[in-house]
Amino acid sequence: MCGITGYIGTEESKEILLRGLEKLEYRGYDSAGIAVGNKDGVHIYKEKGRVANLREAIDSDISAQIGIGHTRWATHGKPTRDNAHPHQSASKRFTLVHNGVIENYMMLKSNYLQDVHFQSDTDTEVIVQLLEKFTEQGMGTEEAFLKTLNLLDGSYAIALLDQESTDVIYVAKNKSPILIGVGNDFNVVASDAMAMIHVTDSYMELMDKEMVTVKKDSIIIKNLEGEKQDRATYKAEIHEGDIDKGIYPHFMLKEIDEQPLMIRKIIRSYQNENEQLSVKSDIISAMKEASRIYIIACGTSYHAGLVGKQFMESLADIPVEVHVASEFSYNMPLLSAKPLFLFISQSGETADSRTALVRVKEMGFTTITITNVPGSTLSREADYTMYLHAGPELAVASTKAYSAQLTVLAILADVASTSNGKSSGINLISELSIIANAMEVLCNSKTEIEKIATQYLSTTRNCFFIGRGIDYFVSLEGALKLKEISYIQAEGFAGGELKHGTIALIEEGTPVIALATQDKVNLSIRGNVKEVAARGANPCIISMEGLETDEDRFVLPKTHELLTPLISVITFQLLAYYAALHRGCDIDKPRNLAKSVTVE
Ligand code: AGP
Ligand code: GLU
Repeated sequence: MCGITGYIGTEESKEILLRGLEKLEYRGYDSAGIAVGNKDGVHIYKEKGRVANLREAIDSDISAQIGIGHTRWATHGKPTRDNAHPHQSASKRFTLVHNGVIENYMMLKSNYLQDVHFQSDTDTEVIVQLLEKFTEQGMGTEEAFLKTLNLLDGSYAIALLDQESTDVIYVAKNKSPILIGVGNDFNVVASDAMAMIHVTDSYMELMDKEMVTVKKDSIIIKNLEGEKQDRATYKAEIHEGDIDKGIYPHFMLKEIDEQPLMIRKIIRSYQNENEQLSVKSDIISAMKEASRIYIIACGTSYHAGLVGKQFMESLADIPVEVHVASEFSYNMPLLSAKPLFLFISQSGETADSRTALVRVKEMGFTTITITNVPGSTLSREADYTMYLHAGPELAVASTKAYSAQLTVLAILADVASTSNGKSSGINLISELSIIANAMEVLCNSKTEIEKIATQYLSTTRNCFFIGRGIDYFVSLEGALKLKEISYIQAEGFAGGELKHGTIALIEEGTPVIALATQDKVNLSIRGNVKEVAARGANPCIISMEGLETDEDRFVLPKTHELLTPLISVITFQLLAYYAALHRGCDIDKPRNLAKSVTVE
């Protein structure tokens, strides 16, 4: 994970780097650092904790027109000041920031660097020490950098300064994201375009195993054999306003509130000139040819995949399996004769999903990515991409991306079904418009949902979410949301499964949040609620208009049964938000997490 920034030009670099790091904090926030270069050499500032701490530690008089920055999500070595990036070589000639994991760092240390005294516990430091070692043997910087890169196994995005030539930033990439931003008399480096959108909207993508020399007026890209590569620029479609909290105390709340508008935007984005829902014909042909779809994803996106399976199977009659990406890559199931792979990833950068994508591509299968981020690795590498059109999602806890994923999956299932000449049996545009209105009702019910959070979740140690059928899948998401931002131990369970063991955990007052939006299992989920209540649980039933009873704590507005996850999830998102708020948690940047998980 981690975020990287770099600047070379004529302006003061430190403020540009810090602003970039502030926007990249979602990628990691356990420590931060910058290195800036001027005629007196390279100066390093780093601090444990947030970019705000780093800001305070920087010498306000320092003037430098070149620099690199980093916000860390530790993989090797505790989040201390010593382990914070940038890291320097023994003589301090080379200074480097790195995103990723060097898998063979122990081997490199013992084969090449036994005489070097390491300053940190990171895998990263091996890169900068190797570089120095090779230049001491007489190589030029570029040659030494290429040789070093060729020795590394694992993932890296690197920005590097050489004290002896402070007019260049060296950059390299393999599996971790990094872009070069192009300016007039300056150039920048960034983990994503959002970070540097305050200085440029023109970017160049890098491919894996490429190295770049970035000067203020030139960018030279080479592969690891040293051959020059041509690269066009593209315009990043991001507006500063999209990445601003505005009147909201947290990005998470802003992003929850954005959902009704977003649904309408997604509908428009997938309508053709006749106002019919439409998806690229190649994608639909690939679906028609497939004997089975495999959805691969992680976390919230995996939960969206579970609901997506219901959509595909009930609307389009296509069998679907859903797999956790990290398991799929190393424990592949027996595949059907004609599989089609669908990767769901908000960020489009998740390493576990990417590993699975690379594997199935090597096997020659067709791949589709559903992502929120144009130009992201998974979108570039899949055969086809469908965008979420959700706008940037910055809170670590995914909210609007989940609803956008469900909406796009529903559209895909609907279009696949109608292109088969049969009707999906649902007027999706109209049903999604009802959803958008119902979402508005829920976003306006914050006071009531906050009361429920206070009543059930302000002091509890644990909590269960239960549901049946599609409600079970939303329960998994409700539990994930609650645990990741409030640190309450929460589990999502199929209502009927509790009694097979987990019910042993029910104690006097344990909150059990039960979702009852499906007619065919309404009575059975209520039966499961009785079972836990009889053992002392404190049940909170959330039902749907038409199915409600007097014992229900909250009733959702009526929508199409298949699409209820889009509504019930908002209640869960808000419950998690208020639980975390009342417990004084850092909602947008929960402990131990990062938005974009670019390590396996
Ligand atoms: C969601 O709240 C989580 N932060 C996390 O589970 C996330 O959904 C997961 O890491 C997958 O990310 P992606 O969608 O960007 O691939
Ligand atoms: N592996 C490096 C470290 O632990 C980089 C981690 C990151 O990508 O933030 O410092």
